[in-house]
Amino acid sequence: MPHKILILPGDGIGPEIVAEAVKVLDVLRADFGLDAETEQGLVGGSAYDATGTPLPQRTLDDAKSADAVLLGAVGGPKWEPLEIAVRPEKGLLGLRKELALFSNLRPAILYPQLASASTLKAEVVSGLDLMIVRELTGGIYFGQPRGVRTLENGERQGYNTLVYSESEIERIGRSAFEIAMKRDKRVCSVDKANVLECTELWREVMIRVGKDYPQVQLSHMYVDNAAMQLVKAPKQFDVMVTTNMFGDILSDCAAMLTGSIGMLPSASLDANGRGMYEPIHGSAPDIAGSGKANPLATILSVAMMLRYSLDEDGLAQRIESAVSTVLDQGYRTPDIFAAGANEVGTAAMGDAVVTALRANA
Ligand code: IPM
Ligand code: MG
Repeated sequence: MPHKILILPGDGIGPEIVAEAVKVLDVLRADFGLDAETEQGLVGGSAYDATGTPLPQRTLDDAKSADAVLLGAVGGPKWEPLEIAVRPEKGLLGLRKELALFSNLRPAILYPQLASASTLKAEVVSGLDLMIVRELTGGIYFGQPRGVRTLENGERQGYNTLVYSESEIERIGRSAFEIAMKRDKRVCSVDKANVLECTELWREVMIRVGKDYPQVQLSHMYVDNAAMQLVKAPKQFDVMVTTNMFGDILSDCAAMLTGSIGMLPSASLDANGRGMYEPIHGSAPDIAGSGKANPLATILSVAMMLRYSLDEDGLAQRIESAVSTVLDQGYRTPDIFAAGANEVGTAAMGDAVVTALRANA
């Protein structure tokens, strides 16, 4: 049976970068024996424009029947005036929730070729290889009650709820420990247990889950300190596990350690290995349509898809080494440009990866 992959280009630079990832998938099918069928769908602002909702039922049905989803990005200034319930971001959040993609893996790896692209000193970041495991379907992003209400004195008050049940904490904890077992066997759980009862429970459950993984060293850190440590000494971390909102914030911070958010892929997995794969950067409306966006995060997201959902680790490695090859060859999109490099646009970068893949066949 061929793997079924749903492709959701989305908004902004989404369609441009996804087109390059599709070139890579096509080569894998033509030359490397990947047995996969792809289908395209609508999500985000472009889905809203076409159908009146950022997550059409058709997209949701297709996603549920696919083995994996590849998503570009959603959102943009055009849709900011819309009410929250139909904003493009709701398309993404709806997919995460409906597909039960609770485990979000956000690796931050520094390619040695890009050490000078980081704003931090090379010695602080060289060799960086950290994995943020972000809880993705709970916490304050989804907690009820939520909204804006009018108080008796006529003043409006906004409110959201941070809520985690033990089972939600336990399953994301297990994800993190399982991943750590395949890495350096260290997990740092990030919370705000000194202030928030919800994350006091988080810490308690992490300790309990950790007892099942005696080989893994578990530590705990408050989120403010974790943000500081990430820019001070990021190489101290192996796996970080944290809540939905803390993970949102810390993963942007970790991404920048590597020089460009344009390099980083992500995987969002359910309990059975079905997943959605997307670059961690957004829709970058400021450069959409200019052909300048870096497609490597999306191409590397295809590698994660092959590894985590399609059981094709060998093909994943081929993509990763092709990306490394194009960096060695000096190809750079503007976000990772450095003097002396060969500046290319989105399509030329995708073509360079395809050429490197074929050359190593
Ligand atoms: C991310 C993004 C999303 C999030 C937005 C677009 C809803 O920032 O994937 O990190 O907050 O989760
Ligand atoms: Mg984010």
